[in-house]
Order: sequence, then C-alpha cells, then structure tokens
Amino acid sequence: MKFFIDTANLDQIREAQDLGVLDGVTTNPSLMAKEGISGTDNILKHYVDICNIVDGDVSAEVISTDFEGMVREGEQLAELHDQIVVKVPMIKEGVKAIKYFTDNGIRTNCTLVFSAGQALLAAKAGATYVSPFIGRLDDISTDGLNLIAEIRLIYDNYGFETQILAASVRHTMHVLECAKIGSDVMTGPLSSIEGLLKHPLTDIGLAKFLADYKKGN
Ligand code: E4P
Repeated sequence: MKFFIDTANLDQIREAQDLGVLDGVTTNPSLMAKEGISGTDNILKHYVDICNIVDGDVSAEVISTDFEGMVREGEQLAELHDQIVVKVPMIKEGVKAIKYFTDNGIRTNCTLVFSAGQALLAAKAGATYVSPFIGRLDDISTDGLNLIAEIRLIYDNYGFETQILAASVRHTMHVLECAKIGSDVMTGPLSSIEGLLKHPLTDIGLAKFLADYKKGN
C-alpha cells in the first residue's frame, strides 16, 4: 500500500519524506489556499518545490471545468515535472479530459469520487488513480470504507489497472481499514501516518528496557 500525504505544507511534506515511508503527495486548491499560495506562477512553482522534496507522484489539480481548459491546464502541469499527476474532477468534461490525457500519456487522478459508478467511469476513461473521499462520506453518515470495498470488487472483477487512492482519510483507523480492504494508496494528514507508530505497550516496554540498562551500567 502506498502512503501519500494530503497537504501543500512543505515542512510537513519534508517531515513525512524524512520518515522514509512516503510514496507521494496530493494537493487540492483548498490545501494550496491554506498555505497562502495563490497566483498561477506561485502555484506552479509550489508544485515544483513539492516534487523536489518527495520521491513519488504529486497530484496537481486543474481549476477549469470545461474540456479545453482542463486539457490546457493539465498539459501545462504535466510539463512542470515528470512526477506530476493531473488531478481532474469527476464531472462529464473531466471524464473526457481523463480519456484525452490517457491517450496522450499524461497520468491522472480522478478526484471528488463519491460512488462506485463514478469510480467505474474513471477506470473506463483510463485514470491512473481514482480518489474516493471516505472522510467526507463518513461526515454525512455514509460508510466511506464500504465504497472502497465496492470499488475494489469492481476493479478486480474486470482487471482495471486504475489504482484506488483512498482520499479524505482522517485518522489511523481509516488507514488500517483501507489496507485490509486492499486500497492501493491512501492519502491523509501526517497524523494519520504517525498514528500507526503508537502503542502504549511499546512506550512502557521501551521505558523498562532503558531503565534496566541503566541499572546494569
Ligand atoms: C484528495 O486528494 C483530497 O485532497 C483530500 O483527501 C480531501 O480531504 P478532506 O475531505 O479532508 O478535505
């Protein structure tokens, strides 16, 4: 299972990269705005900065909602760095754009996916990644993890190569459950990755080992 971090914060990306288990980064316009990154030139530069920190795929989202605009933006983003994956929303024009990018060797991440039908369409269009937003489904009392399971079943039935990128991951249990279901990738905050480290028995055990060492030295 690949671990992506869902942020545009360079310090957090560096911290996750330093841990040695990071496989990529996802961003979105809200995450860029949160870091105060605005204006096309600054946004494009920020994507390059991210690519220079992480070894792996970096999702960069288009803003246009029409086919021509998405293609124009996506081609510009893809030219920035070979680690860039163009993030395209699951709308009709987006499906057309994903097909276009697939046919032209540009990798894509189909975002804002909330149903198995949308995920099937993304795979048919040849998306590299599909991003079901599990946290936002949970927020409206719908089982986000169940969507991951449905997509896994459908993709396995037909051998689709589109990778399931569980997005809107909020905590460590989301990560673990996605791993059990067989999600190819998860993207979440640094805390969802670091939470995997924690167990009280580890802390108690280490404290005892260190105390016993001190006694004998
Ligand atoms: C996915 O790529 C999105 O950037 C992200 O996971 C959305 O998460 P949120 O629901 O926490 O905003």
